[in-house]
Amino acid sequence: MIDELPTLEAEALAAVAASSMIDDLKAVESSVLGRQAPLSLAKKEIASLPAERRKDAGLALNETRRRVGEAIDARREELAGGERSAQLAGERLDLTEVPDHVDVGHAHVVTRTWEALEDTFVGMGFRIAEGPEVETDWHNFDALNIPPGHPARDAFDTIYVNHGTPGSALLRTHTSPVQIRTMLEQDPPIYIVAPGRVFRRDTADATHMPVFHQIEGLVVDREISLADLAGTIEAFTEAYFGPGFHSRLRPNYFPFTEPSAEFDIQRPDGSWLELGGCGMVHPNVLRAGGIDPEEWSAFAFGFGIDRLAQMKFGIDDLRDMFSNDVRILTQF
Ligand code: PHE
Repeated sequence: MIDELPTLEAEALAAVAASSMIDDLKAVESSVLGRQAPLSLAKKEIASLPAERRKDAGLALNETRRRVGEAIDARREELAGGERSAQLAGERLDLTEVPDHVDVGHAHVVTRTWEALEDTFVGMGFRIAEGPEVETDWHNFDALNIPPGHPARDAFDTIYVNHGTPGSALLRTHTSPVQIRTMLEQDPPIYIVAPGRVFRRDTADATHMPVFHQIEGLVVDREISLADLAGTIEAFTEAYFGPGFHSRLRPNYFPFTEPSAEFDIQRPDGSWLELGGCGMVHPNVLRAGGIDPEEWSAFAFGFGIDRLAQMKFGIDDLRDMFSNDVRILTQF
């Protein structure tokens, strides 16, 4: 057999080349390199050769086996690639046939209003901030200058969460705790808006929901004044509602701002819409946020998102907006 090595090699290589599937190739591999293959049996023959021929014959046999082995590996890769492409071609989906109408749905009206507000504020240079919906009593009240027993606590019909010391965990009643979290996290200057879900113990009716949405604004910088607040509200009004819309501030009271104001939007027809609250951030609130009120000043504002959505899309009853009835939702 040793003398037939070139023939055995040629036959083996031909068989490898002829195999057209991985499984065929496995069979070829055992027939040309397996224990009963001529190229394996030839090893035994070498031992019986005259001593002076053994070395060359051994080398020749090893070289032949190596070349055949390489040819098998190369063929295996080729076939694997081909089988993969054939499999892919077989699994290909023809997506060219599309029905006339596909109902893909769209974002909820509140989501769309929320995103439009974010876009407007980002365009004005604000960053988006977030905070948790389950808050500590400290972030929601104390840090906002509403200590225990303060009458303002009663104004927020708070839903408490059964966690830790009774009364220490709650569903945030407004987005204002994000002011505190942002100040504790970041050094001034701060320019953020924080949209989010808020909760109050309210019975659902046409204009109230126990779960609703607010957007909070906070600006902390050097020498921030009430004029900056009024200017920002006015710039937002024009950017969000459009030309012809204006804003005004009316004195009000919030424990976390001093002075405080309510702000209204005037429509082009002259009518007014009450939008939200705002004011210069109280020094106690800045201190709770780790900011020195001697060095920095700040304003904040907050307003509801749902009523804007309700107005924009002309929805009479707030409850309809959250009924998840597709017959209502698909109208917008
Ligand atoms: N957090 C207040 C509310 O929910 C709104 C507000 C925010 C007022 C920021 C002043 C400053 O009514």
